[in-house]
Amino acid sequence: MQFELIEKLRNLASQRPELQAIVDDALSVASACKSLEEIKNARIAILGKKGLASRILKGIGEAPQDERPLLGQVGNLLREVVSAILDEKEREIEKEEVGTGELREILDVTLPGRRVTLGKDHVLINTIREIIEIFVSLGYTVESGPEVEYDYYNFEALNTPAYHPARSLQDTFYVRRLDAEKENPKDVLLRTHTSPVQVRVMESRKPPLYVVSPGKAYRKDEIDATHSAMFFQVEGFAVDSNLTMGHLKGTLEVFIRKLFGSERKVRFRPHFFPFTEPSAEVDVSCFSCGGKGCSLCKHVGWLEILGCGMIDPNVFKNVGYDPEEYTGFAFGMGIERIAMMKYGIEDMRLFYEDDLRFLSQF
Ligand code: DAH
Repeated sequence: MQFELIEKLRNLASQRPELQAIVDDALSVASACKSLEEIKNARIAILGKKGLASRILKGIGEAPQDERPLLGQVGNLLREVVSAILDEKEREIEKEEVGTGELREILDVTLPGRRVTLGKDHVLINTIREIIEIFVSLGYTVESGPEVEYDYYNFEALNTPAYHPARSLQDTFYVRRLDAEKENPKDVLLRTHTSPVQVRVMESRKPPLYVVSPGKAYRKDEIDATHSAMFFQVEGFAVDSNLTMGHLKGTLEVFIRKLFGSERKVRFRPHFFPFTEPSAEVDVSCFSCGGKGCSLCKHVGWLEILGCGMIDPNVFKNVGYDPEEYTGFAFGMGIERIAMMKYGIEDMRLFYEDDLRFLSQF
């Protein structure tokens, strides 16, 4: 718009030197504005009641009759041109600054910034990672298996017969039962431990196998300080020719001392698991009292930390391995229990409540 109007304005004003001076002055002030403050001042100086344009228009009364139309035209045109120039400048400056004029009022760029808090990994995940890293350093590989599992893998193939109490409805979340009367290898359930991964891996691969498998397991337990319907386990097993209970003991002693400290004592207690023979539970000397007896170890000086044993020949038969050719050992541990002992936590519900005051301590 402006070029033609400005030309017209300049041409008209050039007829009188005083008019020309005022118009030149006004145009150079308007086009030199670089801030909202300067624009505001220019509006007052040029368009205001006592501004330059008003001065021209007010002069009409005193001017000779024949000059009056020129003064009127120049005065009005100057207003039009200058307010167009200033409006456009204002829009440009606001665009360059923070969005619109309104936003500029809300945003106080002088306020100190807000600190961004970084999230971190959960203490249970870190405990799993620590355990896995120890076994990876011993040459183990990491595998996983499904949480929704067949009865076959969770019980049957692990030498857990139908009458075994672990298979009762009270303990297991069944997803689908095909035969309401009796357990069926095709029933679908939430795995009650990570041990079925042993069977799945052995079915699909040949020894030598050195495998660990972390994951979730589910049991129909009343939730309290030491029980949860969902919890984490790490399973481990090895199959090779000539593996003995000595290899099992050596492996777990190395593992336990790396996890809990080199001064820990380790003991194996006879136990029973359907999928291992012989079976044992492993205790570590209490790291709160060093074995003297305290409230953490319930005054026995030992803490039970995992179950283990030599893989039962029946399990090998179920996966098509010859028990005369291969031997193996297996172990399984609860992660919540280990993390509770390691960090002195007395209620496992704290792990699942997502309270940052608790979680951020680790
Ligand atoms: N699956 C057992 C449980 O959930 C733990 C376990 C014990 C795993 C002995 C094993 C083992 O592999 O050999 O209580």
